[in-house]
Amino acid sequence: MGKNKKAPDAMSKIVALCKRRGIVFPSSEIYGGVGSTYDYGPYGVEMKNNISRLWWQNMTLSHDSIVGLDSAVILHPNVWEASGHLKNFTDPLIDCKQCKARFKADDILVEGQETTKSPQCPRCGTKDSFTDVRHFNMMFKTNMGPVEDEAAIGYFRPETAQGIYLDYKLTQDTARLKLPFGIAQIGKAFRNEITPGNFIFRTREFEQMEMQYFVRPGETSKWLEYWREERWNWLLSLGVREEKLRWLQHPEDKLAHYAQEAWDIEYEFPFGWHELEGLHDRGDFDLTCHQEASGKDMTYFDAQAKERFIPHIVEASAGLNRAMLMLLCDAYREDEQEKETRVYLSLDPKIAPVKAAILPLVKKDGLADLAKEIYNNLRGRWPLFLDIQGSIGRRYRRMDELGTPFAFTLDYQTLEDGTVTVRWRDTLQQERISKDKIGEFLADKL
Ligand code: GAP
Repeated sequence: MGKNKKAPDAMSKIVALCKRRGIVFPSSEIYGGVGSTYDYGPYGVEMKNNISRLWWQNMTLSHDSIVGLDSAVILHPNVWEASGHLKNFTDPLIDCKQCKARFKADDILVEGQETTKSPQCPRCGTKDSFTDVRHFNMMFKTNMGPVEDEAAIGYFRPETAQGIYLDYKLTQDTARLKLPFGIAQIGKAFRNEITPGNFIFRTREFEQMEMQYFVRPGETSKWLEYWREERWNWLLSLGVREEKLRWLQHPEDKLAHYAQEAWDIEYEFPFGWHELEGLHDRGDFDLTCHQEASGKDMTYFDAQAKERFIPHIVEASAGLNRAMLMLLCDAYREDEQEKETRVYLSLDPKIAPVKAAILPLVKKDGLADLAKEIYNNLRGRWPLFLDIQGSIGRRYRRMDELGTPFAFTLDYQTLEDGTVTVRWRDTLQQERISKDKIGEFLADKL
């Protein structure tokens, strides 16, 4: 490291690794990039799909009475009027009068619960030189059809939840559900964030994994408690270190306009403790708003009790991209191997984008052909990486950086007795197994 060069911080290292290893790329880079917009490369998309699949399986398979939905991104514009998003889904905005930089007012004017006495511009350092706070709606507007007039305005959904509320009766009816039941959805959401940042932590286009749980009035506390435990345990099942997670309850004056009670699970990112996902008691707010605005009956009829009422909703809302960043940060490790720094991602095999590497020690003497044969026999079952060329050390390092949990190496002994070496990513432990047992080995570990 040169004298004036600062050692890269943890986040810069993770961002660089993601680009180097095909996990996350800055979007539109050949045009200079669009701020805070990212593309998921070949291994990023695998990892993201692993997380969303595990969430989906957990919700729809491991729980009784939770079904899926995939609703539209652009809903009827009246939805956002009714849901309160047009009026309330705003961020307070201020500008520095000196350098004209724009900030979320809360980031500058509030420290903990207190108002900052002499606020300072983080960009130019000027003190007490801010405009008044203005409220800025975070929804992205668009035009439906070719005519750009008021009547044709549409909005990209800022949360996937509203599509679930609109379809809740059709879903309940067609899936023949009885309270309590849930509807799960994974999909894109869009927010015109004033200050996106911290890599994929806060972006303007992102994916949510949301589950709305419909319950009887008076039962929200019980179910909120249930879902708090479920969500915590799900995160632990992904291999996250528990000491890096904590709960934060929203104070009453900071609740979103739809929430009666709200809890965040926070993770200790390299840039501090921040929200990972949220649990909300939304009461009957959303269904009542839609009933009033649409004039359509949003009640549920309990045939046994002969009662009709609007169900209350407990929501578990997680960000897919944020969950991925959390897993990358949690898994990032460095150790010393033969006087060199080794970087690896200690990802749970369920999350790892590539499950195993097949590596012939050398290309010649039939080892590469045998490696190809093994790879071809197994590749339909798991994402594997066949890497034939280059120094074996460098090939191991590449796989370590991708978080590949196992490497199977073929050497001259393989030609004699049909065994390969299994190398474990984290411990570097090595053992020999028969090449015919690789499938069994992986099936046992994955
Ligand atoms: N339906 C409720 C809802 O949307 P939220 O707390 O605003 O609640 C839920 O968002 C989750 O969505 C957050 O916990 C976070 O994981 C993710 N999220 C929200 N805004 C985001 C953004 N700009 N970029 C990435 N993820 C975001």
